[in-house]
This record gives sequence, C-alpha cells and structure tokens, in this order.
Amino acid sequence: MEVVILPTSEDCAEIAATAIERLVHTKPSAVLGVATGSTPIPLYRRLIRGRHSDASLSYANVHAVLLDEYVGLGREHPQSYRATIRQELTDALGIPDHQVHAPDGTAEDLQHEGQRYEAQLAAVGGVDIQILGIGSDGHLAFNEPGSSLTSRTRLKTLTARTREDNARFFGNVNDVPHHVLTQGLGTILEARHLILLASGTSKAQAVRDAVEGPLTAQCPASVLQWHPHVTVLLDRDAASLLSRAEYYRYTWAHKPAWQGI
Ligand code: PGA
Repeated sequence: MEVVILPTSEDCAEIAATAIERLVHTKPSAVLGVATGSTPIPLYRRLIRGRHSDASLSYANVHAVLLDEYVGLGREHPQSYRATIRQELTDALGIPDHQVHAPDGTAEDLQHEGQRYEAQLAAVGGVDIQILGIGSDGHLAFNEPGSSLTSRTRLKTLTARTREDNARFFGNVNDVPHHVLTQGLGTILEARHLILLASGTSKAQAVRDAVEGPLTAQCPASVLQWHPHVTVLLDRDAASLLSRAEYYRYTWAHKPAWQGI
C-alpha cells in the first residue's frame, strides 16, 4: 500500500488524474471504476479540464462502472448515483451513456441484481482503476462495518450514521433510502489498481483505522491492505492521525518521478 500525503485535495486530484489519463492514453477502452460523494469532485473537475486541454485524449471507448446505487431510485432520479455520475463526470468526458454501468436500484429481482451486475463487470473486462472514498465509519462503497471481507455485489442496509452523512444530498434524512446495492469488498479487490481519496479531519480516524489498524470487517476499508496495488491519496487533515506520516512523506519525496503511482 502506498500512502501519499499532500497539502490539499487538489494536489491529490492531480496525482489521481495523471494516473487515469496515462491509463486512457495507453488503453483507450479502459474500465474506470468511479465513486460518488463529495471526495472525488476535485478529481472529476480536473479530469474534465484535462479532457478539454488535450485533444489527443478520448474517453469515447472508456467504460465507467459505479460502486453502488440506492434501492428505489430509478436511473433518472437526480440523487441516483447513475444520474449523479453522468452529471458530475461521464457526460462531460464524453463517455456514452450505454458505457456507464451501475446496479439497478429499481430491479424487480433485487435478490439477483448483484449477480447480474457482477456479470456485467466481467463482460467489460474488469476494472482497471477504481476510485474510492471512505466513510467516516470506515465503510468502502456501501460496505458498512461488519461486511464480509470477501463479499460480492448485494443488497445492504445503511447505518444511521451513513444516512445522516448523506442527508445533505437529499435535504432531509428521511428521504435517504435505507437500502442500497453495493459492490462487495471481494468485488472491489478484483480491480487492478485501487486509488482511495480522503480529505478533511472527519475522515482522519477512519483513514488511520484503514491504513494502520488491523485487517477487520469492523473497518471495511482495511481490506485495502489485502490488495497488491493500492494508492491512498490524503490531504493533510485526513492524514493527521497517522503514526507513520513522516515515513510516508519521506518515501514519496524520494520516489523516482518516472514511476507514477
Ligand atoms: P464522501 O463519501 O466522499 O461524500 O465523504 C465517501 C463515502 O461515503 O464513501
């Protein structure tokens, strides 16, 4: 696991965007795993700027796959993650709508929707780079504490804390759905490169638990320790509780520039 501590979330966005642009240049049909929430917004803005300033960069053949979706919200509902990612990223990058994939929160057969989505992920060839945020309770995608470390895409119930954290997008906590479909931790581990972004002091404890704590279902994001290629990009505040911060800074400062992340 590579832990990179930078002054601001904009600096983190620059590193992640460079890795994504490098991927799309070398593999125009790349599969990009995307996350919703506030954390990746600086990255998405930076990617959109990058697309406009580099005429040789095309996302026309890229597939975007989402981590999760609210149950009960159709694809046109403004708070559905599918509508959100189109508005925040994929439309502006020029990724065609039929190449944006998400679990269907209105599927008639919710019990088997996870399996259908897993088959879809396999059909596009698996995820090349997966962007991740982290919940203040340590959740990864919508895998709340206690989620099996080998879980697959399935129905989950949100904690009260997550519903309160996400109430800002809905205006009222009562409007936040109780149920979601989410990629499992085992599903996420199959992406070839995981990039976790975190910013702000509200994430500092969860980041510490995930990066320096034990591997445990009580902190689902600690499962990242099991993956062979993980980059954790943190702003100063999100890194504020890490005990090995000095070592991570030293390592980054001495890394050969050609190596990338
Ligand atoms: P946030 O959400 O980026 O809006 O903080 C992250 C998450 O809940 O995984």
